Amino acid sequence: MTSSSSTQVVPDVALVPRHVAIIMDGNGRWATKRFMPRVAGHVKGVEAVRGIVEACAKQGVEYVTFFAFSSENWRRPQDEVSLLMRLFMTALEREVAKMHANGIRLKIVGDLSRFDDKLQNMIASAERKTAANTRLTVTICANYGGRWDIMQAVNKMVASDPGVSDFSEEQLAPHLSLAYAPEPDLFIRTGGEERISNFLLWQLAYTELYFTDTYWPDFDAAALGLAISSYQQRERRFGRTSAQLNEQVPEAKC
Ligand code: IPE
Ligand code: IPE
Ligand code: MG
Repeated sequence: MTSSSSTQVVPDVALVPRHVAIIMDGNGRWATKRFMPRVAGHVKGVEAVRGIVEACAKQGVEYVTFFAFSSENWRRPQDEVSLLMRLFMTALEREVAKMHANGIRLKIVGDLSRFDDKLQNMIASAERKTAANTRLTVTICANYGGRWDIMQAVNKMVASDPGVSDFSEEQLAPHLSLAYAPEPDLFIRTGGEERISNFLLWQLAYTELYFTDTYWPDFDAAALGLAISSYQQRERRFGRTSAQLNEQVPEAKC
């Protein structure tokens, strides 16, 4: 099923964000500050993911999406890249059974073709195993880039209807890699940087943005609670005026 688009239809806004998308940044600096190797920060970062998945399930969030490895992270030193791959495999091995037992559906999105066969098979089997779970959908973006996502969707859309020259948003949306989820309500970036770093470029059109200096390994349930409280103070207008929201002034028809 494809979720509706915030630029086509004004979405219903719930008190708890339905979909939270997170750039987990600051693992390396967390470790360096403690005179530890960067890898120690990544190991701690995996633990933080576990805590936030649990907290999201408790809070009633329906979808949580984590940026784990960007299409630009291949530019890092070879040993850090291999270590991140190994950590990803170990985490899959260790966590999938538990997630399944807790009613969690796991999705991995990104250009997976660059991963070795063993990892690709593990990903496919984790997704198959958890496909029918409905409590919370956890998406891991791996070798993901927002531009890659849009381009792969455009290519699929054009291939699906080669005769057409004038496509619409609605025709593109089902081909985007997160088409199974509503657009994120809340975006969180830890680690102090205030940028999108080629994350969900299309899907963040009307998402509320939240930046915190907290390094990812320190981001816990309480920190998530603060982000959600900040979200709850926002007025999501989707192009309308405040008065329209508060006084139910009817929308103009074009
Ligand atoms: C985020 O932490 C994890 C990945 C990008 C894989 P970083 O590794 O970017 O940590 P900093 O930003 O260098 O502190
Ligand atoms: C963004 O973090 C990517 C992930 C968290 C996977 P980076 O650390 O790679 O982002 P930049 O390079 O600081 O923008
Ligand atoms: Mg970083």
